[in-house]
Amino acid sequence: MIKIAPSILSADFVNLERDIRALSGAGAHYVHVDVMDGHFVPNITIGIPVVAAIRKITELPLDVHLMIDRPLRYVDAFCKAGSDILTIHVEADTEDNTRKALEKIRAAGVRAAISVKPKTPAEAVLPFLPLCDLILVMTVEPGFGGQSFMEDMMPKLQKIRAYIDAQNPACELEVDGGIDAETAQICRKNGANVLVAGSAYFGAKDPAQFVRQVTT
Ligand code: DX5
Ligand code: ZN
Repeated sequence: MIKIAPSILSADFVNLERDIRALSGAGAHYVHVDVMDGHFVPNITIGIPVVAAIRKITELPLDVHLMIDRPLRYVDAFCKAGSDILTIHVEADTEDNTRKALEKIRAAGVRAAISVKPKTPAEAVLPFLPLCDLILVMTVEPGFGGQSFMEDMMPKLQKIRAYIDAQNPACELEVDGGIDAETAQICRKNGANVLVAGSAYFGAKDPAQFVRQVTT
């Protein structure tokens, strides 16, 4: 089954409640929440209180993407705020601390995930795969919505799909960055089953139609 996770980075923040409430009606599967700290990436977005507020107005799982340095410091707080899937970046800390963070997330009853930036090789996920419920492959440099899809990430996506099928078949494989109706199909062919879409979803005239188009 193909799932879509609209990234609220492209929602109307003045009308965030309205935009989030509309997601389930449009057929979205997850709410993708991009958390940026101005260190790990050059942008600052939203944090723990906003995740907690969103939790109160939707039944959809919150897919929280932490683009922050040394996430071990904050995973407990993001779990308590109501994350259903909590993603940390492999580049954000040592292997030991990344493992500790994933274990903490799972101990909190939250699905644990890691993400790889475009320059990070597929092999980087291997030490963590048994601890992961989802792997997120970035198809843009993290930091901003509205960037162009990097098709050269497809060999990496295929490789990670093969690792997942061999070692942890229940694990989901998500792509994030530049996903539209066309690039969604490319990602599906190369093994992704969860598609994050910010500008394409929120810019669509008919978001429900966009969801049908990319998921069927
Ligand atoms: C980028 C974020 C993405 C972003 C995607 O760092 O992780 O989730 O919002 O936006 P689009 O779909 O516009 O590329
Ligand atoms: Zn994201």
